[in-house]
Amino acid sequence: MTGKLESANHSYDWDLVFAPMDIFRKYLIPEHHWPALQKSSLSIDDRIRLNHFLTYFMCEMFIHFEKLIIQYMQFHRNKILLHASEKQIDRFIQEEESHIKGFESLAFKLRPDLFTDRNPRFLAINSSDQMVIRHTSMLPFFMMAALFEEMTLFIPTVMEENLDDSSAPVLELMRYHAKEEKSHIGIDRKIVMGTIQTQSKLKSNWEMQSLLPLVVYSNLRVENAWKKASIFFSQERGLTKKQSKEIVSKGLSKSDQMGMQSYIQKNIDKPILGNGILCFVLKQLLKWKGI
Ligand SMILES: [Fe+2]
Ligand SMILES: [Fe+2]
Repeated sequence: MTGKLESANHSYDWDLVFAPMDIFRKYLIPEHHWPALQKSSLSIDDRIRLNHFLTYFMCEMFIHFEKLIIQYMQFHRNKILLHASEKQIDRFIQEEESHIKGFESLAFKLRPDLFTDRNPRFLAINSSDQMVIRHTSMLPFFMMAALFEEMTLFIPTVMEENLDDSSAPVLELMRYHAKEEKSHIGIDRKIVMGTIQTQSKLKSNWEMQSLLPLVVYSNLRVENAWKKASIFFSQERGLTKKQSKEIVSKGLSKSDQMGMQSYIQKNIDKPILGNGILCFVLKQLLKWKGI
């Protein structure tokens, strides 16, 4: 970690971290992170460009979910305060804001033409997301947040499996992010457990019914955004119809898979009321994918 860049207010100047990064280097994140795309018939040059583009898209995706979490915490602050301290909430938000800055810097470094005015091109918060923020109960929201955060934890692990194909500044950001996300998962679960303890079992069960639809909704948002992004990439690189089809679905990344497994395991170790259905579906999904 480039410690000298750490300031007293717990933020990094990520623009400085990414400044010396050679964006034309081979890969930024090892190709095996996206197993479904490894089988594509793209030329080596297009594969490298796709790798950069996927890294860019990942930044948009992370910025999107972290903004959702911040907005949710701000909107429902008083209810969350019943189960987490003022200090924990402020720190959580401050850390997410700092992650957003990191991913924004990386996105801008990779595609200044797409990330104009530091705004996402493919995945911005829309009116449906605003509805989700306002009307989703704390139980499903924080369990979904925990799943999303769990899925980001393993990116450094995957990158460390092939350091030759990993960009050092990108790995630095991913390690920094994963380290802080671990404590967020603890807070998500604390809020969930606290809520369950203070309301009826019936109410908790009822609220948890919307966890699976919420995860499906979030997944559809990402899938649709990637569809748009992959069409853009295909046109930009002049890919054939066959090649465009090959990349239109990027499937589960390695860290998605590892995060899902970890989420399922945590539910086995410390079960949460109403979380079993999502765990069952995730397990089936991994099984169908042969994982
Ligand atoms: Fe984060
Ligand atoms: Fe987080």
